[in-house]
Amino acid sequence: MVKLHQVAICALSLFLSPPLFSQASKGGSSAPSTQSIANGKSTFRVACSYCHGIHADGGFRAPSLISGHLSHGDSDDALLNNILHGIPGTAMPANDLEESEAREVIAYLRSLQKPASAPITGSPEAGRKLFFGEAYCSRCHMVFGQGGRLGPELSRIGASRPPEFLIESIRNPDAELTERFVPLDFGSVATTYELVTVTTRQGTRFSGVILNEDSFSLQFMDDREKIHSWSKSELQSIVHEHRSPMPAYAPQQLSDSQLNDLVAYLTSLRGDSK
Ligand code: HEC
Ligand code: HEC
Repeated sequence: MVKLHQVAICALSLFLSPPLFSQASKGGSSAPSTQSIANGKSTFRVACSYCHGIHADGGFRAPSLISGHLSHGDSDDALLNNILHGIPGTAMPANDLEESEAREVIAYLRSLQKPASAPITGSPEAGRKLFFGEAYCSRCHMVFGQGGRLGPELSRIGASRPPEFLIESIRNPDAELTERFVPLDFGSVATTYELVTVTTRQGTRFSGVILNEDSFSLQFMDDREKIHSWSKSELQSIVHEHRSPMPAYAPQQLSDSQLNDLVAYLTSLRGDSK
C-alpha cells in the first residue's frame, strides 16, 4: 500500500513538473511584478540616475531612456547588454549588476510613461547655418564628414547628450571636459579633450589636444590639425591646462535665440544623415 502510494506521488510529480516549469518561465516574460519594478526603481536611483536623471527622462550627463527612441536598440536583449557591458566608444559605462537586477531595471524603465517631449523652440535649419557659418563650430567639429577634427565628432550628439548639457558645452565649455575613447585591443581607454601646451627641448611651444598619452610618448593634434608624435624625452614640459580649447560663447557673441537654434540643430543629430 505504502509503496503504491509513493509510486503514485512520484508519477504525479513527474506529470506535474513539465507544466509547472513552463508556467514559471511564462511568468517571467509576462507582466513583471510590482515588486520587481520597485526593485528596479531603487537600483536605477543608485546606479543610473546620476547620469540619466532621477526619473530616467534625461539627466545632465546622459539622455532620456524613456523618450521612445533608443539609438542602441530597444529590445530587452539590447538593453540588457548595454546596461551590463556599457556601450563601447561612449560615456555609457559597464555596470556591476546581476542580470536579474538589470532585468528589474528594464522592467522599471518599461513601466514609466513616456513624457511629452520637451519643446525645442529653435530652428534646426538656422542652427545648421550658424554651425557651419557665423558661429564657426565646424572649424573644430565634424558632422557627417564635414568639418574639423580638433573637437569631438558630433553626428549623433543629439542621441547622446540632453539639451542642458549642450547649452553648457557652448556657454561654458570648461565646466565638463569631454572624454575621448581610444579603442584598445580589449575595451577602450579615456583621455580628456583638454588644452595642452608642450615645449620641446629646442624651446618650441605647441598648443592643442592630446590624442593619446602613455608614460613614454605623446600624440598630439595642434590647432591646425597637424599631428605630432613625441617621445617624452624630447620634451621639456607638458602642461595640462585643464580647460577646453573651445572658446566659451557668451551671449554677446551668440544670443540666446541663436543658442536655441544651435541646440535645436544639435538635438536633431542622431547619427542618420538625412
Ligand atoms: C556615467 C554616466 C552613466 C551612468 C552611470 C549610466 N549611464 Fe547609461 N548612458 C550614458 C550615456 C552618456 C549614454 C549615451 C551613449 C551614447 O549614445 O553616446 C548612455 C546610454 C544608455 C543606454 C542606451 C540608450 C540608447 O539610446 O540606446 C541605456 C539603455 C542606458 N544608458 C541605461 C543605463 C542604465 C540602466 C544605467 C544604470 C544601471 C546607466 N545607463 C548608467 C551614461 C551613463
Ligand atoms: C577651437 C575649436 C572649437 C570650436 C570653434 C568649437 N568647439 Fe565645441 N569643442 C571643442 C573641443 C576640443 C571640445 C571637447 C572639450 C570640451 O568638452 O569642451 C568641444 C566640445 C563640444 C561639445 C561637447 C561634446 C560632448 O560630447 O561632450 C559640444 C556640444 C560642442 N563642443 C559644440 C560646439 C558648438 C555648437 C560650437 C559652435 C558654437 C563649437 N562647439 C565650437 C572644440 C571647439
